[in-house]
Amino acid sequence: MTTQHPADPTVTAADAGRRTDGWWRDAVIYQVYPRSFADANGDGMGDLEGVRGRLPYLRELGVDAVWLSPYYASPQADAGYDVSDYRVIDPMFGDLADAERLIADAHGLGLRVIADLVPNHCSDQHAWFRQALREGPGSPLRSRFHFLPGKGADGELPPNDWESIFGGPAWTRTANPDGTPGEWYLHLFAPEQPDFNWDSRAVADEFRSVLRLWLDLGIDGFRIDVAHGLVKAAGLPDIGLHDQLRLLGNDVLPFFDQDGVHEIYRDWRLVLDEYGTDPATRRIAVAEAWTPTVARTANYLRPDELHQAFNFQYLGTAWDAGKLRAVVDLTLDAMRPVGAPATWVLSNHDVVRHLTRLGAGLDREQDLRRARAATLLMLALPGSAYVYQGEELGLPEVLDLPDSLRQDPAFTRAKGTGAEGQEGMRDGCRVPIPWSGTEAPYGFGPLPGGPSWLPQPAEWAKLSVEAQTGDRDSTLELYRAAIAARRAHPALGAGDSVEWLEELPTGVLGFRRTAAGQEFVCTANTAEQPVLIPAPGRLLLASTPVTVVEDELLLPADTTVWWAV
Ligand code: GLC
Repeated sequence: MTTQHPADPTVTAADAGRRTDGWWRDAVIYQVYPRSFADANGDGMGDLEGVRGRLPYLRELGVDAVWLSPYYASPQADAGYDVSDYRVIDPMFGDLADAERLIADAHGLGLRVIADLVPNHCSDQHAWFRQALREGPGSPLRSRFHFLPGKGADGELPPNDWESIFGGPAWTRTANPDGTPGEWYLHLFAPEQPDFNWDSRAVADEFRSVLRLWLDLGIDGFRIDVAHGLVKAAGLPDIGLHDQLRLLGNDVLPFFDQDGVHEIYRDWRLVLDEYGTDPATRRIAVAEAWTPTVARTANYLRPDELHQAFNFQYLGTAWDAGKLRAVVDLTLDAMRPVGAPATWVLSNHDVVRHLTRLGAGLDREQDLRRARAATLLMLALPGSAYVYQGEELGLPEVLDLPDSLRQDPAFTRAKGTGAEGQEGMRDGCRVPIPWSGTEAPYGFGPLPGGPSWLPQPAEWAKLSVEAQTGDRDSTLELYRAAIAARRAHPALGAGDSVEWLEELPTGVLGFRRTAAGQEFVCTANTAEQPVLIPAPGRLLLASTPVTVVEDELLLPADTTVWWAV
């Protein structure tokens, strides 16, 4: 089943030159979280038809590609990151025909589609795992997972001391077919997400085949979930310490970022390249790789591996000129030797929305101002940028969801352990986004007063796409203008360096970029006071309304300004 893959409908005469090097190098990639984007059938849960209906909105926003969080068959123990069948669309999202129509329409509009692939683990309802349980110890199917006898006299202790990312031990004990206590299996995430054993040839063969299935369907690339987790250190050694995830910043853990994973990505690169190596149509892969350093992230992007990786070090950086400059340098320095584009990201479905995270939390207007400044800075940096649905509307994190409605397994697992709190709790950034109207679900579903799987705050009526469209000062129009300017100015988008401006007041970050004989300057004030700066050129765009007076600008606090020189 092959759909036609268009040459490159997005390439216009104006940007053809800068895109010949690879479309992903300067792409703005928009993350759709299918549950919460648009609900065409009115059941309160987003679906693929909903996404298809809103593609013109994404086209108008100006993004290059859409990354869809998982839509595969899944019991939804982790919102679809627990896949029971990689070849089937979950009925809650639609079916394969819907996926084909979505891909075809996206291509028709010049948008590329990136699928989310989850190779570290599947669902405990996956046919292989169910059968492995049924067949008991010794079943060859058990070698596709990490099944081991426990420690202790009766095997009552887990095989090692690894902790699950969602809290508690990373092992769950099984019952034998006769009901007696049996082996344990490894799950770095929820117990409903057994880890695959990537030493098994069957696992590697299966994923090669799954890649091809979606590539044949016309998918332009993959976001690889937990790309750093597939290979575990030989012998699954104890770590000897608690709070293991916190060690990730400093150390390579025996279950993360093992050198062996690179062999898998070299193999996958061969599969991707079977679909063509023309930079304008190339199929790509982006790694979700949590590593101790940006330099280790670059290992995933060597010329024979993947194309991009999320820059979580950037996402984790405070709104502080000095720290931002340091992480930008670190990133560009790490990417240059492997020739991969840097990526920049502020929000996604796993973290507190950047408006709330970077903001002081005292005043919504102030938080929004900072979020807009952070966005304009991100979109000015060389490389590719990721935008998470709803950030273009200036949506805050929803902090007051009733416990009974929350679905994030991290919340359930942390409950009662004293680890509750917003950090690591992910429903608040997954609330369905507002499109129009004054009554919930604000156009998310077809009917006013209809359902939405998480309730939307009443204030979201004024944040809807409809409410913001055409309002020059709105956040949505800022995103539209910024993405359009990024396309139009040759010194924005792709590149591997910036020239820092040194003569700026403390708290102000400024850099120059030059391409095709044209200069661009970005100035961002992260301090709490306005500062007077000389205008370096013609004002292109500002995250807060500003006026240049006699070649000087009083740059307000929490404001980024773009200049054409
Ligand atoms: C990734 C996903 C996250 C999911 C986890 C387990 O980090 O982004 O949402 O819970 O993997 O699949």
